[in-house]
Amino acid sequence: SANAMWGGRFAAGPAAIMQQINASIGVDKRLYAEDIQGSLAHAAMLAKQGIVTETDAAAIAKGLNQVKAEIEAGHFEFKVALEDIHMNVEQRLKELIGEPAGRLHTARSRNDQVATDFKLWVRRACDEVAAETRNLVAALIDRAEEEAATVMPGYTHLQPAQPVTFGHHLLAYVEMLGRDLGRLADARKRLNESPLGAAALAGTTFPIDRQMTAKALGFDRPTANSLDSVSDRDFALEYLSALSILAVHLSRLAEEIVIWMSEGFRFVTLSDAFTTGSSIMPQKKNPDAAELVRAKAGEVIGLTVQLLIILKGLPLTYGKDMQDDKAPTFAATDTVLLSLAAMAGMIRDLTPNRARMREACERGFLTATDLADWLVKHLGLPFRDAHHVTGTLVKMAEDKGKGLSDLSLAEMQSVEPRIGDSVYPVLKVENSVAGRKSEGGTAPDNVRAAAKAARERLL
Ligand code: ARG
Repeated sequence: SANAMWGGRFAAGPAAIMQQINASIGVDKRLYAEDIQGSLAHAAMLAKQGIVTETDAAAIAKGLNQVKAEIEAGHFEFKVALEDIHMNVEQRLKELIGEPAGRLHTARSRNDQVATDFKLWVRRACDEVAAETRNLVAALIDRAEEEAATVMPGYTHLQPAQPVTFGHHLLAYVEMLGRDLGRLADARKRLNESPLGAAALAGTTFPIDRQMTAKALGFDRPTANSLDSVSDRDFALEYLSALSILAVHLSRLAEEIVIWMSEGFRFVTLSDAFTTGSSIMPQKKNPDAAELVRAKAGEVIGLTVQLLIILKGLPLTYGKDMQDDKAPTFAATDTVLLSLAAMAGMIRDLTPNRARMREACERGFLTATDLADWLVKHLGLPFRDAHHVTGTLVKMAEDKGKGLSDLSLAEMQSVEPRIGDSVYPVLKVENSVAGRKSEGGTAPDNVRAAAKAARERLL
């Protein structure tokens, strides 16, 4: 016939440009395993319900397994003329087993077929992204334990604020990634209903058993509404939204690595394995991997927005627009998996410069809050007055080009006569962090306990 797929209704084949815009096989061949898995479940159900014979179902199953083997061996010839993965698999099945292949599509449409395949794919992707996220979480927890007592400046507005520990800082990212894992688990749970059996849009007149196929494919239950079943791409949106937030977290950490690597900071170094050189400047070692992770969040967010816009305003039920759901979903998955792996590599690779971090704590009057707290606790000053006294002392130290702890007792007493010698220990950076034992605080003991708890909760 002149048309490879719909020769009954169609006298002529598509224009070349029609074929080019319509075919999705270049993208959706990645669904081959899910497509065959779905078809195997469907065929077994058709046989059990007496809709096809056991003999035909057995031939279909054998043929589908052979198609799968051919694809995995790299022998399969994907044909653009056959549009998509579903038609490519079915056509090859027909070549292999003949007439029974034509019975597979009974009580099914590509609309419920593709929704099923894509859900199975996204479900597995949730698991793969979660595994790679846990790999990064493990790296962060390991390093946090090593650096539980390493002091560094904590910042607000990127201005030095109070001393914290590097371990505590790394564990902040563990919390973010823990929420990302929760979002992936939620998305996975909500998507886990089987659209198979919704057929084109309205259900089918055949006595199918949707419970059976749902169970065979690991879904919790069949979807409730046939129209929604073939129209719904919430599952991809929810998954992509979770990836976007995850990518934003990775980009924030990436930016911090870039800052820590910069000349003004030098808080960490990355080895040759995670830096690149310059073609002109021989001295350079650039944190390119971190910069690229920072950039790739833009791609993931863009892909998420792309799918939101594709779906916006689409009337029920299926529209061919929905075929373009896969490219952004696949691309965002690949990019996030790569970013996660690169970030885990950098976290394990980086060497903290503990001396530089300690020095930076001395420069920025970081223990000013500790001094104000001391005035409250030991002299009974209201915090606002203590804040004012401390501010005056910071100004004095700054004018004299010294740190707070370099001020003599006489200098301090010129501002507040009741200040005594016992103020000096609280100005020490190590004491500042060690004292912050409030729940969730930065004290090294807290960091060790938090690392242990995170390990138990997330890994
Ligand atoms: N390749 C199509 C997709 O990915 C399969 C569904 C086609 N259905 C249709 N009614 N044309 O969306």
